[in-house]
Amino acid sequence: MQELEIGQLRTLTDLLKSRFDYDFSNYAMSSFKRRVQRILELYKFTTFESLVEKLEGSDEKFFHEFLSEITVNVTEMFRDPSFWVELRENILPTIFSENRNINIWHAGCSSGEEVYSMAITLQEMGLLDRAKIVATDIDLAILQKAKDGVIPIKNMELNAKNYERGKGIHTLDKYYKEQGGKAYMDKNLVKDVVYREHNLVSEVAFSKFDLILCRNVMIYFNQSLQNQVLKVFHESLFKYSYLAVGSKESLIWCEISNKFSIVNNEEKVYKKVKD
Ligand SMILES: C[S@@+](CC[C@H](N)C(=O)[O-])C[C@H]1O[C@@H](n2cnc3c(N)ncnc32)[C@H](O)[C@@H]1O
Repeated sequence: MQELEIGQLRTLTDLLKSRFDYDFSNYAMSSFKRRVQRILELYKFTTFESLVEKLEGSDEKFFHEFLSEITVNVTEMFRDPSFWVELRENILPTIFSENRNINIWHAGCSSGEEVYSMAITLQEMGLLDRAKIVATDIDLAILQKAKDGVIPIKNMELNAKNYERGKGIHTLDKYYKEQGGKAYMDKNLVKDVVYREHNLVSEVAFSKFDLILCRNVMIYFNQSLQNQVLKVFHESLFKYSYLAVGSKESLIWCEISNKFSIVNNEEKVYKKVKD
């Protein structure tokens, strides 16, 4: 099939907005295009028009599969281990030294590996029961996976290596049971976590947090959407609270970057310093 044109991508984003109320018009065009191209191949659509027709049919099940494909869900436990060392050794001790209980938001939590990483870190610091964690994602199917806490065993080698490099104090197998090629995570770790659907594009702040992790999500947004989402995070943080983004992301180009200071430039940790 021929390469997709900008006009076709616009047709698609208009349709997704009008029919399903999901606005992808400010997603970074190049990766959005790659994902659509992938869907065309995966579902063996021979023309772009046949994909449009399928979506026009308002097939909810297909739409949700489409949504899962469009939003990149790749994740790991203790992704970027040096970030988790920074959290364990500096960020979390500082926040807990100033607060008895803290609120953490994982925005774009995908299948939950990041949430388990946080819960394990807090457990090992003896602080899990003092943290209230909310984990959100646009994609209901991936949120269900996060709730299930079942990870393909083939992923656990990398996860365990990350955990070790992230200065975990045991071995990762302490936290899961292996059965039938799958790792069943210890659900006690996340028994108090609230998982909920939340779309960063269209929804507003819903609570206040001491720490927000939004890692490897805004990389798929264009500058204007990054600005918009950063305003939501700014509103969702208490003053002098922390925001962590992915290692390839940065706040410095955003409109309200002057309301944040850099805590750790390597690990992309920022602090809200102005209301
Ligand atoms: C690459 S994963 C990142 C997962 C994890 N934070 C990490 O760093 O490993 C990106 C996640 O962002 C979610 N996402 C994409 N667009 C979103 C939006 N508008 N609102 C909320 N979540 C979104 C996707 O569904 C996906 O699960």
